[in-house]
Amino acid sequence: MLSDRMKTALNDQINMEFGASFQYLAMAAYFEAENLLGFANWMHVQAEEENGHAMKFYHYINSRRGRVTLKALSAPKTEWSSPLEAFQDALKHEQKVTASINNLVNLAIQESDHATNSFLQWFVDEQVEEEASVDAVIQDLKRIGDSSQGLFMLDRELAGRQPEAEAEAE
Ligand code: FEO
Repeated sequence: MLSDRMKTALNDQINMEFGASFQYLAMAAYFEAENLLGFANWMHVQAEEENGHAMKFYHYINSRRGRVTLKALSAPKTEWSSPLEAFQDALKHEQKVTASINNLVNLAIQESDHATNSFLQWFVDEQVEEEASVDAVIQDLKRIGDSSQGLFMLDRELAGRQPEAEAEAE
């Protein structure tokens, strides 16, 4: 059985992951409006991944016979001054998620909840990847600067991002 405290913390994490999905979808809409469809594709794939993260928590709570309680999502930010600003926001958000996952691990250790600690290790590793993949785009955008040709090339590259399951199947 999950403790009440852990149940609440895991439910809060579901909210955070769905919130991230919502935010990335808003970023996809921004890039679509800017006619940067490769960037939009990257954000769509990311939004789907966040949905998947939320559902992992959903199923885990149920598997421990806990009660999933969904909460309202706050409205996402919808406008950015540049692709770089949008990706910098994404990195800030991922760093918040990483801190939240680390807090969950700390709680699991404190409660000697080994099952939850084990479940969370996937997310610990995932967050390293999440931050690195956002940061890689930030570094590319900084290198490109004001070059519209560079932005065009990067947009082409990001159009190739696929959902993880499809990428692994190839
Ligand atoms: Fe599910 Fe990007 O954190």
